[in-house]
Amino acid sequence: MRIVVLVSGRGSNFQAIIDNIAAGNLSVTCAEMITDNPRADAIQRARENGITVTVIDYHAYSSRLSYEVDLLSRLDELRPDLVVRAGYMRIIGNEIVLAYKGRMINIHPSLLPSFPGLHAQAQALEYGVKVSGCTVHFVDEEMDGGPVILQRCVAVRDDDSEETLAERILLEEHIALSHAIQLFCDGKLKICNRRVLIL
Ligand code: GRF
Repeated sequence: MRIVVLVSGRGSNFQAIIDNIAAGNLSVTCAEMITDNPRADAIQRARENGITVTVIDYHAYSSRLSYEVDLLSRLDELRPDLVVRAGYMRIIGNEIVLAYKGRMINIHPSLLPSFPGLHAQAQALEYGVKVSGCTVHFVDEEMDGGPVILQRCVAVRDDDSEETLAERILLEEHIALSHAIQLFCDGKLKICNRRVLIL
């Protein structure tokens, strides 16, 4: 199975995928990393690991639509089995979502449906929840709203800052995302309405 990974910045989730492939824990090929950000640290990570990078610089486009035309055409050229959003900070329009429905997953740093959108860890602290975590889900038309594949929990501590909570959630993200990719590639995920059954 071939995956394409979409990344916007640091790329620690992308690195975890690379490391799991190298360690033999994840049996997929990463065909390419696509980023919307020419300054993303993830570019260096890809180069160091011999993974092709395509930069589709969001800010070089006059509209989201024209950006997405190029993103979709690159994805279609690559013909991945699965598109993995790993810290990709853009909302994707319906044309791409529909083209890759059931074949695109996202990692989010909260237990959805709590705290969708940006600053999920800060939202969790502000609300005062005692448990947060991460969610891997299929991407649908609603932001952070698609069927949930896996979730991993993290206890919130009294002395947590946004940074310390984000750090502990990130460790769980690194495990959950690779696990979900492996389940998908093994054909073990069955979407039944909102539920994802793990066969
Ligand atoms: C992660 O917390 C991810 O869930 C969120 O943005 C962060 C990206 O981190 N969407 P990285 O780029 O994978 O290090």
